[in-house]
Amino acid sequence: MSLDVSASAVSEAEILAGVAPRVATVRRVVQEAYETYTYWLTLDDPVVRRAYRFEPGQINMFGVVGVGEIPISVSSDPARPMRLAHTIRATGRVTNVIKGLRPGDRVTLRGPFGRPWPVSAARGGNLLVVAGGLGLAPARPAIYRAIRDRGAFRRVIVLVGARGPEHMLFRHELDAWAQWLRFRGIETHLTVDIADDTWPYGEGVVTTLFPRASIDPRVTTVFTCGPEIMMRFAVRDLLGLGVPARRIWLSIERNMHCGVKLCGHCQLGPYFVCADGPIFRYDEIGELMGVAEL
Ligand SMILES: Cc1cc2nc3c(=O)[nH]c(=O)nc-3n(C[C@H](O)[C@H](O)[C@H](O)COP(=O)(O)OP(=O)(O)OC[C@H]3O[C@@H](n4cnc5c(N)ncnc54)[C@H](O)[C@@H]3O)c2cc1C
Ligand code: FES
Repeated sequence: MSLDVSASAVSEAEILAGVAPRVATVRRVVQEAYETYTYWLTLDDPVVRRAYRFEPGQINMFGVVGVGEIPISVSSDPARPMRLAHTIRATGRVTNVIKGLRPGDRVTLRGPFGRPWPVSAARGGNLLVVAGGLGLAPARPAIYRAIRDRGAFRRVIVLVGARGPEHMLFRHELDAWAQWLRFRGIETHLTVDIADDTWPYGEGVVTTLFPRASIDPRVTTVFTCGPEIMMRFAVRDLLGLGVPARRIWLSIERNMHCGVKLCGHCQLGPYFVCADGPIFRYDEIGELMGVAEL
């Protein structure tokens, strides 16, 4: 696919506001899991490229000209904003077109938007990341940030679950993290709902990893991201272990259109997911998630 779009000069204020869609070129496409690909992009305009920054957990509105625009989390290292990864599962109209993109194709990005993971809130204590399936994509930039600032945390623990081995994202990276205890200073445990003969890690839902992680509720800050049902069970168990609600953070997905608090498509109770989220503290949105009913 090839699109006829061109970059133009833009003021820094516009870039920071993220209002104008900017053209980016697909540099590399990597299959991560079943129907899921990472698109490595560079912004075409050198001024925009140099000015662009994002925080872990933020999203871009990822557009294909003539097709549409959808919210996608940035999945790469925030310390390297000149190379941007978006990890996307093909599920519908726009994502199925994105699946056909190849190196050299052009897309648009608008953003970054949203409230990021508060990585610095975990400094001095333990950071626990609990991710399920595609939820590892928005969580990965927070893990990179913690690795770069490893000395600021007592422990960094990453627990990942997926439906099966073929649904586990970033497998080479996770293998490296999981097979050497405390590789890059992080403790990684993996599990799948249904294992096969090739799978060397755990079997069961992600919460079955909690006992292995020896979670100390007094000093642990939790970031969790994945299907809402997974997060509800994870939060229930974490509260049961004594982790305070104010130290549990979740990434929430709702349909989005404008990305800038104008259209109302992303409303969640009194909040706009595009601006007040996608990262929320559990005590802000707990009642809206229905954990108490589990
Ligand atoms: C804050 C945020 C971050 C996201 N990050 C990522 C990411 O990193 N990678 C990724 O692959 N996807 C991500 N998504 C989801 C992605 O935006 C949707 O999959 C996409 O909008 C679907 O567009 P489509 O036109 O291909 O599908 P459609 O044809 O619109 O829909 C296909 C199916 O997906 C469902 N769907 C549509 N939008 C969503 C949504 N937001 N959440 C759940 N189900 C939806 C529809 O109900 C329908 O069943 C994120 C969404 C949000 C709100
Ligand atoms: S996406 Fe329009 S208000 Fe949030």
